[in-house]
Amino acid sequence: MRKPVIAMDGYSSTGKSSISKIIAKKLDLVHLDTGSLYRAITYYALKNCLDNDGKIDLNKLYADFHLLKITFKIQEHELKLYLNGENMSQKIRQLKVNNHVSFIAKQPEIREFLLNLQRNTAVNGGIIMDGRDIGAFVLPDADYKFFLTASIEERTKRRFRELQGMGIETDEKTVGENLIKRDKIDSEREVSPLRQAKDAVLIDNTLISKEETIDLILSKIRKF
Ligand code: C5P
Repeated sequence: MRKPVIAMDGYSSTGKSSISKIIAKKLDLVHLDTGSLYRAITYYALKNCLDNDGKIDLNKLYADFHLLKITFKIQEHELKLYLNGENMSQKIRQLKVNNHVSFIAKQPEIREFLLNLQRNTAVNGGIIMDGRDIGAFVLPDADYKFFLTASIEERTKRRFRELQGMGIETDEKTVGENLIKRDKIDSEREVSPLRQAKDAVLIDNTLISKEETIDLILSKIRKF
């Protein structure tokens, strides 16, 4: 039997990725964190496509598209991203990448470049994909769609703890400002903005734990 396609969208630091990871294991699916695609392109641009003022030169980046080979390795239900053979898992979590990724993600050329790649990974089903525009745009026919939200205070705390856990030095104020800025750019961009699909289930998890959020999501998914 064909396994389902699940779209998991929402604001930054609502737990989309970690929740999707657990659901993928429970339901024997693979998980693709689509933020990692935009982050990998940002990482590449910061490394290879800066102009003389140290700003990202988009035209240089677009000219390099044919050099970008994105591949995945499945590891414990995760589609781990490799860019030109290089494992991106850790590198794309740097603050520098956080600060530039929404600028990169709002460029129509970049969204177009990544669209088919995302759709192709879902053609055979059996996937949970998290992002900002999955249910509304990338996979409008997904079998199940969820949209996660939480208060900015709670999201800031979660993200700060996560960065601390990764040994990245920062403070809560900076983390909160980055989240607000990214959400604003993501919601206001012209192409494929952060949106709740009309048929998505909205879950505000400000006051509920990750485990409760997962139980709620699983209760909405029929046995298949
Ligand atoms: O999910 P994560 O926070 O890692 O995503 C990083 C950034 O990538 C987001 O802030 C957003 O700008 C962009 N993104 C997007 N569309 C997606 C996934 C991520 O625009 N489907």
